[in-house]
Amino acid sequence: MTLDFRRADFAEDFLFGVSTSAYQIEGHAYGGAGSTHWDSFAATPGNVANAEDGARACDHYHLWESDLDLIAAGNFDVYRFSASWARVLPEGRGTPNPEGLDFYDRLIDGMLDRGIKPALTLYHWELPSALADLGGWRNPDIAKWFSDYAEVLMARVGDRVWSTATINEFWCVSWLSHFLGHHAPGLRDIRAASRAIHHVLLAHGTATQALRAAGFGNLGAVFNLEHSTPADATPAAQDAAARYDAIYNEAFLGPVFHQSYPERLLDGIASHLPDGWQDDMSTIATPVDWCGINYYTRKLIAPAPGPYPSLREVEGPLPKTNMGWEIYPEGLGQFLRRVADRFTGDLPLYVTENGMAAPDTLAGGTVADEDRIAYFNAHLAEVRAAARDGVPVKGYFAWSLLDNYEWAFGYDKRFGMVHVDFDSLERRPKASYHGFQSALRRAP
Ligand code: FCB
Repeated sequence: MTLDFRRADFAEDFLFGVSTSAYQIEGHAYGGAGSTHWDSFAATPGNVANAEDGARACDHYHLWESDLDLIAAGNFDVYRFSASWARVLPEGRGTPNPEGLDFYDRLIDGMLDRGIKPALTLYHWELPSALADLGGWRNPDIAKWFSDYAEVLMARVGDRVWSTATINEFWCVSWLSHFLGHHAPGLRDIRAASRAIHHVLLAHGTATQALRAAGFGNLGAVFNLEHSTPADATPAAQDAAARYDAIYNEAFLGPVFHQSYPERLLDGIASHLPDGWQDDMSTIATPVDWCGINYYTRKLIAPAPGPYPSLREVEGPLPKTNMGWEIYPEGLGQFLRRVADRFTGDLPLYVTENGMAAPDTLAGGTVADEDRIAYFNAHLAEVRAAARDGVPVKGYFAWSLLDNYEWAFGYDKRFGMVHVDFDSLERRPKASYHGFQSALRRAP
């Protein structure tokens, strides 16, 4: 099996890319980076599989040149990577780490040398510990801290990046990390989550304004969207699924594009939001140039007794990835249409992440990851159909280039198109990598 599309199936200017993130691949122990809340979260028993952290990860910090070679040889147009706040500013504020700025400088020049467009994400979850000590995303000052960090980094590299995203996945930064407690800082508290929701949005808007004022363009934000399907036909299940959708999806699209939180979210968080939150909504809705959608799966949702949000996830019947996530490509097509119709209009949309963890086995120096190829094919078919229907979707980024540190799952879950041996650090392209390489090849 191989990837069943060609560039000609998409518009001439449609871009194909790969996505990664700093903490998941770089090796945070190298190059003078400061400590982050993921280091301490991982060091706390029970949070991460095998208590693994990102200290070494894929050692992309040292192996970045050959990793960029892989992206170029794979015929990808764009590389979506992130910078670590604590690598740039080890204390989160104050004096920058020259080695950190040099690293991103080299990396970006390395992309340009290879004809790859650099798509920078400013925050993909590794909050500096010094800021976590001050309350992290619960502290309203984080909007300014983040914006200042954005300006420091962009002053150095902003002249050469193709695009800049503020935040990767608002829902994960806030709800997953402060209400469900699955990610750093591991809180389970509705008030903390409410503050984090508001402050991460405000940080996005504040930084977007500052970068715009400094003359930078092609600014966007990246939303992770998850399809919410009622577990049955009862009104109670419909209602619970709508609540899940409000918390997961509209909680962030609503403020950024319509300057408002959905009612079904306010039902749970209004009494916990910071005083005067309404005054921040226009900053949060500072115009962006594009919208990124990360899409992986759907959830079946049923009502549950107990306090807000009074819902539970039910196991679904569809085939699942190695994460236990149902494979539901239709959800991606639906989101592309819904986001364009209801939120973004003519703004370019990018699928900034999509991919699957698979139970890969290495044989003969490669991995025959047919399941991953099928996943990509099914989701790309949805993107193609949406584009044909006039949705302004302008690019697709596969998650991920390399097997990497999959957060609370440690190194157990493999999402890469390139296999990584975490002892020798050897990279071995899988069949899916070769699939993209031939599908994306341009006629000589
Ligand atoms: C997304 C994250 C990314 C990776 C994938 C599997 O939520 O942005 O870092 O963990 O999921």
